[in-house]
Amino acid sequence: KVLVLDFGAQYGQLIARRVRDLNVYSEIVPCDISADEIREMNASALILSGGPASVYAEDAPSIDPAIFDLGLPVLGFCYGHQITAVTLGGKVGHSEVGEYGRATITRTAGAKLFNSTPIEQTVWMSHRDAVSEVPEGFTVTASTDVCPVAAMECVERKIFTTQFHPEVKHSEYGQQLLSNFLFEICGLEPNWSMDNLVETMTAEFREKVGDDRVILALSGGVDSSVVAALGARAVGKQMTCVFINHGLLRKGEPEQVEEVFTKQFDVDFIHVHAEDRYAELLAGVTEPEEKRRIIGTQFWKEFFAVAQQLETDGKPVKYLAQGTIYPDIIESGARKTGGKTATIKSHHNLIPFPEGVHFDLIEPLDHFFKDEVRALGLALGLPGHIVFRQPFPGPGLAIRIIGAVDKEKLEILKNADAIVREELDAYNQRLFEQTGERNSEHSCWQYFAVLPDIKSVGVMGDERTYQRPIILRAVESSDAMTADWAKLPYDVLARISGRIVAEVPGANRVCYDITSKPPATIEWE
Ligand code: XMP
Repeated sequence: KVLVLDFGAQYGQLIARRVRDLNVYSEIVPCDISADEIREMNASALILSGGPASVYAEDAPSIDPAIFDLGLPVLGFCYGHQITAVTLGGKVGHSEVGEYGRATITRTAGAKLFNSTPIEQTVWMSHRDAVSEVPEGFTVTASTDVCPVAAMECVERKIFTTQFHPEVKHSEYGQQLLSNFLFEICGLEPNWSMDNLVETMTAEFREKVGDDRVILALSGGVDSSVVAALGARAVGKQMTCVFINHGLLRKGEPEQVEEVFTKQFDVDFIHVHAEDRYAELLAGVTEPEEKRRIIGTQFWKEFFAVAQQLETDGKPVKYLAQGTIYPDIIESGARKTGGKTATIKSHHNLIPFPEGVHFDLIEPLDHFFKDEVRALGLALGLPGHIVFRQPFPGPGLAIRIIGAVDKEKLEILKNADAIVREELDAYNQRLFEQTGERNSEHSCWQYFAVLPDIKSVGVMGDERTYQRPIILRAVESSDAMTADWAKLPYDVLARISGRIVAEVPGANRVCYDITSKPPATIEWE
């Protein structure tokens, strides 16, 4: 496998993705990993990502120099290029002019990494610092007008680095460079696929669990359902699926989850009714991160209570498996990426254990993106209606009700949300029938209703109303890292608005959120 050392890169997650797209397995590890740890992971090549820091900044991430002596081929981009230069005895300087966006490089004739690409090519740059002197044994292989060392290599040590970002689509021959590195330089075979991923992941799950017992945190969403299918395949009845009903689920959802996991799957399934406990804990709480903390902490307590109950038969529950995916980790402040990215919001599965609660975690999906998880789900034989469900956050409707959560608001939101889903499911289905694609250009990736903490005046049947507005949120995306608001046809918007105001008691207005991510996030809290 190829390890990507993450220096807090904006495009970091893309690198591993591009490698997997070439049918070579790749995963991301923190940049402060040691040479010994890499040796243990049995890697066949390393890629050093970009990152926001300047190599000379006080808290700039560094790299274990012994990594360069492992004898593994190394590819470095941007920060990875500069840190290689500095660590191996070269120099990096601060240039007067930065280079941001499209640039044209001229490469040297014999440059190995650039094989089968033109002498002049367009690349994507984003830097101010630049390598001013290459380390001993290195040669310069590309340059631009303002960047004399746009790429360098030391063929003998198999180290190749570029100042630009081959992983972004704007670098014209980026994927060719990556392919040159993987296949010509490292000699790897493009033999990784979803099917053998299923085999490897099943074996890993089985090996990790051994003879122990596991509970699975099941929400019924795509990610935890994929882990359920994987766990069932790997360890069968050593795993119990536990579904905590916190009362913050969408209309009809608890019944659906129970139906699927008791009738369609041969797994042990427990439905925990925790609605009242959650209602009490959340009463009067308005701050978003506080809501997330309360809900996540109580989840651990609920799972722990179930584990204790199961253990009365004398067999301990050692593991808790859950469907954490890579973007959850990134946005929660990067638990496993070296802590170099900022906390945007604390994703549910990443809330710390409360005192007295402990599980060893199994998170088989923690380096995958949503679309990859879906492909894995299909390879595991999960039905389309689960695999293509839209994402739903662990804290549920609590983070779609702005301000304190109560029964009345929950009822309004559930009813409005059911209409939004019904109408946009139908809209997506029409697009699917036209294009044959599930996530085609204009289809909505995620869509729901939000209930703000305000009221407005309306008029209905000659009467004054003073009720709540519903905010419609619908986005196009592929991995939730970025999203664009969906350009829905007016007739679809009109239908949703008309139905909500007519059918949902307590709602008298509908607004559409026309903000992308960034600068907004998909959810409101
Ligand atoms: P944001 O709002 O950060 O959301 O743009 C990105 C994606 O993540 C989902 N989301 C969560 N999923 N636990 C989850 O499992 C959470 O705590 C959580 N918060 C947000 C959100 O629905 C969107 O798809």
